[in-house]
Amino acid sequence: MADDLPLLVVDNITVHRGGVPIIENASLTMEAGEFVGIVGPNGGGKSTFVQAILGVLKCHAGSVRLKGHAPMSDEVIGSVAWVSQAAANLPKSVRLTVRELVSLGTMNKRTWFNPRLSHGDAIDEAIEMVGLLDVANRDVNQLSGGQRQRAVIARALASQADFLVLDEPLVGLDRASRNTLLKLLDGFCHEQNKTILMVSHDITAMRQTAHRLIYLEDTVRFDGPPPLFPSLEELASLRGIEDVHGGHHHDHSEAECTHDHSPSATTVGQLKEDE
Ligand SMILES: Nc1ncnc2c1ncn2[C@@H]1O[C@H](COP(=O)(O)OP(=O)(O)OP(=O)(O)O)[C@@H](O)[C@H]1O
Ligand SMILES: [Mg+2]
Repeated sequence: MADDLPLLVVDNITVHRGGVPIIENASLTMEAGEFVGIVGPNGGGKSTFVQAILGVLKCHAGSVRLKGHAPMSDEVIGSVAWVSQAAANLPKSVRLTVRELVSLGTMNKRTWFNPRLSHGDAIDEAIEMVGLLDVANRDVNQLSGGQRQRAVIARALASQADFLVLDEPLVGLDRASRNTLLKLLDGFCHEQNKTILMVSHDITAMRQTAHRLIYLEDTVRFDGPPPLFPSLEELASLRGIEDVHGGHHHDHSEAECTHDHSPSATTVGQLKEDE
C-alpha cells in the first residue's frame, strides 16, 4: 500500500461524450479523509467528471489514479462506492426490502460466495444511520422518494469502501434529513478517515460541510476552501458571461431538483445560493 500517495489524482483529463468534449483539461487531487464538494450548472459536466474518476467513462486525454492505480482495477474496485444521480430510481420490477437493498452494498469478491462473511452489523448500522430502521423490512418501492434516496445511501455506507462518490444525494431530502446526512458523512471523514466526493446543487449545504469546494463547468474553475468560494456575481465573471438576473436572488427550490439541459438552465441562477 502506497500510503504516501494522494488517494485520488486526476491529471488534466479530457472526456468526450458522443464525440464532443464535455470535460477539458480538468485536474483534482484528494487526500484520504477529505470531503470535497462539486458544484456547477446543469449540464456543466459534474456527472461526467465523477464517472471518469470512477472509470465508468474513459478519458480521451490525461489520467485518473486511485492510490496509484487505474480506477476499476482489482487493487481499488472494492474500496470505492458510488451513489449515482439516478440510484434512487429503482425499476418498479425490483422486489427488495430496504435491508436486502442495503446488504447488496456489502457484496464483494470475498462475501459473494460466502454470504455469512457479509457484515450484518454494518447493514443494520447503515440502516439506522439513515433513519430507516422502522421500514427496514418494507419493499423499497413502497418508500417515498426521499426514503429511497436514503436507502441507496445506506447501501454505500454499508460497503467497506473508504472512498464514497455521491452524485446529488441530497435531492428529494428535506432540510432536516439533509443536515443529518451531511453530519453523518462529515463524521465518516473525521472518525473513519473515509474520503468523500459529492456533487450537489445545494451550495449553502456544501459551504457548511465540505472541506473544499470545486466549481466545475467544462473544467475546474475554482478549487479551494468554502470561505473563498466566489459569490454568484464573481462566478458569472469567472464564466465570462453577464449575470442575466441582475444579481437578485430567485427561489431555486424547484430548479434545484430539475435536470433539464435547456439554455435557461445554464445560467448562474440555476445554482442554489440560499434557502
Ligand atoms: N450519453 C451521453 N451522450 C452524449 N452527451 C451526453 C451524454 N450524457 C450527457 N451528455 C452531455 O454531457 C454534458 C454534461 O452532462 P452531465 O450529466 O455530466 O452534466 P451535470 O453537470 O451532471 O448536469 P446536472 O446538474 O443536470 O446533473 C451535457 O451537455 C449532456 O447533454
Ligand atoms: Mg449530473
